[in-house]
Amino acid sequence: MQGDLAVGIHDLSVSTTQFALTHETLAAHNGADIGKYHVGIGQRSMSVPAADEDIVTMAAAAAAPVVGRAGADRIRTIVFATESSIDQAKAAGIYVHSLLGMPSATRVVELKQACYAGTAALHFAAALVRQDPSQQVLVIASDVSRYEPDDPGEATQGAAAVAMLVGADPALVRLEEPTGLFTADIMDFWRPNYRTTALVDGQESIAAYLQAAEGAWKDYTERGGRSLGEFRAFCYHQPFTRMAHKAHRHLLQSQGHAADEDTVDRAVGGTTAYNADIGNSYTASMYIGLAALLDSAEDLAGRPVGFLSYGSGSVAEFFAGTIVPGYRSELRSGLHRDVISRRRIVDFTRYRELHAFSFPADGGDHPAPRETTGPYRLAGVFGHKRIYEPR
Ligand code: COA
Repeated sequence: MQGDLAVGIHDLSVSTTQFALTHETLAAHNGADIGKYHVGIGQRSMSVPAADEDIVTMAAAAAAPVVGRAGADRIRTIVFATESSIDQAKAAGIYVHSLLGMPSATRVVELKQACYAGTAALHFAAALVRQDPSQQVLVIASDVSRYEPDDPGEATQGAAAVAMLVGADPALVRLEEPTGLFTADIMDFWRPNYRTTALVDGQESIAAYLQAAEGAWKDYTERGGRSLGEFRAFCYHQPFTRMAHKAHRHLLQSQGHAADEDTVDRAVGGTTAYNADIGNSYTASMYIGLAALLDSAEDLAGRPVGFLSYGSGSVAEFFAGTIVPGYRSELRSGLHRDVISRRRIVDFTRYRELHAFSFPADGGDHPAPRETTGPYRLAGVFGHKRIYEPR
């Protein structure tokens, strides 16, 4: 039972990569009509990591301002959610813990379930805070979305991280109970351990997402959740931003509501601005949607927002949060716009070089080229060990 204790997101920070590829450049390569990308999937560009960037450097860059503002004293847990893990055993969050100089009295763990794991991390964090409201939990969701060159999925790549501080008496979003759950064993998107790119059945994944959204909503309402009309906005997982429109239209229609374009746009339009430029960031994507919504001009104080998190394979969860009055003074809107606008746009040849880059797996010493201008970098891989450093 949550009782009267308010638990939720106290701080939220986004980071992304050094480079970006525009969809105009991709369309010029593959002959697609640019309308397919700008309108059909709703993407303008996608973040591309430098050779010395990965989920850890993005995560540390997102988390540093959060830890800097709150201090590390009350953070006893770091939960790192990712699909693009860099090690089969060690949690990526330990590198972040080290880079940020956090206290040794911390538990650090990594969670996986495709794009959904950030939401599992958030709810596990909230449960820890309810157990001991004096503690805070640092939730990090960081991913690099990679498909094979010339796969239809190539247009829906991207990379980014979010860091969220979860605690009692939150400044941004108060989480509500109940939540609605849905799991189905399905092969719509997966990545065997021996692959660096994901396998996907695109149309199957869209159908599975819509079915899971409906299933999670059904469980949410059966457990006494709010009605659809109560929400001011909806944050959906956004593998591409048009997916939020598709999902909301489907949810409205499945519940017998009108789903004209204006209604759908009013519900999800405020959540897509950052993802349209960043692309898919798997676990981070829905929370980047929340960042865009909070950073938008409209004052949302006291308004309920619905969240639909989907991870292929598949797990979905619908939950609600209320935006906390006074939230605007805590936002990082300038930082978020800056991390997106400061990316360097690369040409197609450079993008494909970056896409193909990998460190040799021979156990030798392999320094990474100095490319990122972000606060942290991967120095290289030395004797099978990834070494990170402040830049
Ligand atoms: N102007 C406007 N819209 C256009 C267009 C044009 N010139 N050309 C195509 N479109 C529209 C299509 O009608 C389609 O919209 P719809 O789905 O509403 O009908 C959209 O653009 C995409 O076209 P489509 O032919 O389906 O693209 P695709 O075969 O290249 O596949 C994905 C698109 C998203 C399935 C593919 O990029 C993919 O597999 N991505 C990875 C998986 C993923 O993101 N899954 C999501 C759920 S997790």
